[in-house]
Amino acid sequence: MKRKKFGFTEVENNSDFVSRVLVLSFPSAMVFILLAFFDLLTPYWAVVSYDMIVLFNVAFLLPISFELAQVKKYIVTLSKGERTQDFELKLSEQEAREIADAVNSMHKFWVYKTDALEAQSMSDTAVLDTLPDPILMIDRSGNILGANLSTRKLLGENITDKNIENVFNANNFIKAVSKVLKKESESENLIFYAQSPFNKKIYAHIKQLPWFSKGRAVAVVSLYDMTKAMKIEKMQSDFVANASHELRTPLSVISGFIETLQTSAKDDKEAQETFLKIMADQAEYMSALIENLLSLSRIELSQDETPKEKVRINTIIEEVSEALSLKASERNMKIMIDMPDKIPFIMADAQQVRQLVQNLTDNALKYGVAASDVTINVKIAETIPSSKSYTVAEGKAVAVSVNNKGPKINPEDLARLTERFYRLQEHKNLNIKGTGLGLSIAKQIILRHRGNLTVTSTNYDGTTFTIYLPLK
Ligand SMILES: Nc1ncnc2c1ncn2[C@@H]1O[C@H](COP(=O)(O)OP(=O)(O)O)[C@@H](O)[C@H]1O
Ligand SMILES: [Mg+2]
Repeated sequence: MKRKKFGFTEVENNSDFVSRVLVLSFPSAMVFILLAFFDLLTPYWAVVSYDMIVLFNVAFLLPISFELAQVKKYIVTLSKGERTQDFELKLSEQEAREIADAVNSMHKFWVYKTDALEAQSMSDTAVLDTLPDPILMIDRSGNILGANLSTRKLLGENITDKNIENVFNANNFIKAVSKVLKKESESENLIFYAQSPFNKKIYAHIKQLPWFSKGRAVAVVSLYDMTKAMKIEKMQSDFVANASHELRTPLSVISGFIETLQTSAKDDKEAQETFLKIMADQAEYMSALIENLLSLSRIELSQDETPKEKVRINTIIEEVSEALSLKASERNMKIMIDMPDKIPFIMADAQQVRQLVQNLTDNALKYGVAASDVTINVKIAETIPSSKSYTVAEGKAVAVSVNNKGPKINPEDLARLTERFYRLQEHKNLNIKGTGLGLSIAKQIILRHRGNLTVTSTNYDGTTFTIYLPLK
């Protein structure tokens, strides 16, 4: 037989109902047994009367039992969280109605509370997600219960399925976490190196939650990536070291001449003029050096930001060659530009690309043979030549090459040209002004754009620097 939703079968199958009827009929059964025993009633009538009483009790108990079964079913449905809008209880018994009403208002209260809690936890999550640093909630065994957006970005979306001890391969961090979980300490702060899942220096703060004994989350772990802060620190100290080392020579030259001017050359007009000229040159060198070093630091700091400007390389090349035309004419040189009319724009930092083109063209004019041409050539390359130290961008690129005539640079020197302060001895001997930082700056700019810089040098063709900047 198919079971009805709220049918008699429920009540009939219920042994409680049967036992209730039997218990209720028991006193009258005893009375009838006694009456029959003393021959005051024939056994036939005793059985018939007992049956009547049982039938009466069934009729009396059935409605309330049936309605209680309905109320029970209703409560079970509510407790499972199933919506019961389509279902309405129709109860005739007062008690059953009152129980159903009480359950209903209790259910409404919990629905309201649940909604409020849900809204609260949603706004809490939103707040945690806006924090730039990773935050994790863990339970008593170190299982990750929740993680904010920055954690999920760093460690993956499925981080909440893992135990914190398996995520970081760092003993001192795991020890600190277990100390807090064992309640040996309320909070722990430490700096550790996480070799996996990334190679970073991390500052961690592990703190017990105030409601330690309740709830599932018992501690919060907040992490701070110190790699960038350390990089900045190192750059600052490098800058100070480089600047003070490089400025020492021109400064000592200047102070030496000041002393000479004050003593032996005091009345020598001719020597004074020569010395002042040298001092002016040294001062000029010092200011170029400071400018270059600052520029290098600035570019290094921008290294993690992806360039986002739409840049037209044609315009930049034209502007740079215009700006350097006077310098070219001083050495009786000309800048020839060979490029297609239409070049797609590149995603780049316009100011940095200008500096890049300018540094290469400036070098070509300084180190090229006098009265020869410097040629800037622009092409679209299918790919960027790969680099040993970093991954270059994929896809097409604009290739800008700057060529000047001159003697071949030997391969050992060629490999070192982008090192800071590295200059060819022959150029130092010829007293050509320079700081040895132009190509280091160029290399940093190229690195930020995930492009590449190549250089070739032959006796016949002279020297050609080519920069590759990705189109997208
Ligand atoms: N086009 C070039 N031809 C020959 N040598 C070059 C060329 N460009 C650069 N060099 C050599 O590389 C060195 C480093 O260049 P760079 O970093 O621009 O510094 P700077 O020009 O200030 O000396 C130069 O001093 C020079 O010796
Ligand atoms: Mg230079």
